[in-house]
Amino acid sequence: MGFYDNYNFDGLKLLAKIKDRPENYCSEPCEEFLNVIKHLKTNRRNVSVAEIGIGFGATALQVLNLLDSDDIYYGFDFADNLNDFAHDLQARDFGITCEIFLATNTDKMFDSYNWNLSNMIFQMRERNEAGLFDAAYLDGAHTFLHDGLAVCLLKELVKDGGFLLLDDIFWTLESDQWGRGYGFGKMTDEQMSDYQILRVRKLFLDNDPNFEALTPPDSWRAIFRKCVAK
Ligand SMILES: C[S@@+](CC[C@H](N)C(=O)[O-])C[C@H]1O[C@@H](n2cnc3c(N)ncnc32)[C@H](O)[C@@H]1O
Repeated sequence: MGFYDNYNFDGLKLLAKIKDRPENYCSEPCEEFLNVIKHLKTNRRNVSVAEIGIGFGATALQVLNLLDSDDIYYGFDFADNLNDFAHDLQARDFGITCEIFLATNTDKMFDSYNWNLSNMIFQMRERNEAGLFDAAYLDGAHTFLHDGLAVCLLKELVKDGGFLLLDDIFWTLESDQWGRGYGFGKMTDEQMSDYQILRVRKLFLDNDPNFEALTPPDSWRAIFRKCVAK
């Protein structure tokens, strides 16, 4: 039984893909991210969360339902995806009350959410703020090239005491049809078969004393908590 079996997304542009491709792993919400948000919401108002890579909107829709009018959801993805998502939220009343900020990027070869994340850091520093997100969920390109940098940027964007989640730690490009097409001719055989998100986790989080791992090392999804500065 899929999470969205009883939903009707007829006439929608992005969310309809959940029904079109029920077997796709993007068609189910990320429970770990939802649990982190539920935890934040038990004793907090003004919760600010980020999802880097929204897929078909399966997680995003549930996140938006958990947030209230004092809260902000930041979604990062290609413009086509986010424009379709914005269309769906206009077209159907899902009872969403929180503020939504959609940060689009182009599909040019080297463009990604990292450009928007870096601009947000500059703005944050100008305002003398230390952190923007109470929780950030990285589920984007799944390459060392994009997500090594994304983690470095997100480590600054996550507030003290906030959460950073990485998905698909043991995913490889060669294991998946989309991944094989994406990496073909651009990556070495070693890179095609490497766990690129594990590489990112090991390099930038496992040895960082400011981040505590809340999940065991063999978890498919990793959750880290940023320590509170003394
Ligand atoms: C696995 S899906 C995300 C699933 C989603 N987090 C969920 O739980 O429903 C990965 C997303 O990352 C986005 N993505 C991949 N590379 C990107 C890039 N260079 N710039 C922006 N978005 C990218 C894809 O468009 C896709 O929507």
